[in-house]
Amino acid sequence: MSREDAPKSFNRRGFLEWIIAACSAITAAAMVVPGLLYLWPAAKGGKAEDVEVKGGENLKPGEHSTVQVRGKAVIVRRDPGGLAAYSAVCTHLGCLVKWDAGKEQFLCPCHAAVFNARGQVVSGPAPAPLPEYKVKDVGGKVYVST
Ligand code: FES
Repeated sequence: MSREDAPKSFNRRGFLEWIIAACSAITAAAMVVPGLLYLWPAAKGGKAEDVEVKGGENLKPGEHSTVQVRGKAVIVRRDPGGLAAYSAVCTHLGCLVKWDAGKEQFLCPCHAAVFNARGQVVSGPAPAPLPEYKVKDVGGKVYVST
């Protein structure tokens, strides 16, 4: 019986091939699974949900607050006409914008993007407006809809 004719059920070559395949599968899973977990909320679209703004009941007309809504920075303002909420993340490279109540503009400190009170780009390198969030006052409590 030659070596070629030996049963292939469990020889050294078969064992090494099995180990290499197992290590390759584990390595591939270690690279793919975190990426899928990162994309999962976006892929399923997320469930719209109202998130209470802590301290929102204390916002007086003309005041604003930057809050975290499901891990995203959002600027909530109480304008004379009602509540408004916009993403605080600049659409250029992701710096946090600040609300300048005197100018009634969002200003990005990184590359000087300027957005108007409705989040539209006024000047600077930002390629898109600030995303707007739905916001409501229910019995004095402020909720942002995600
Ligand atoms: S990150 Fe805001 S202007 Fe560049």
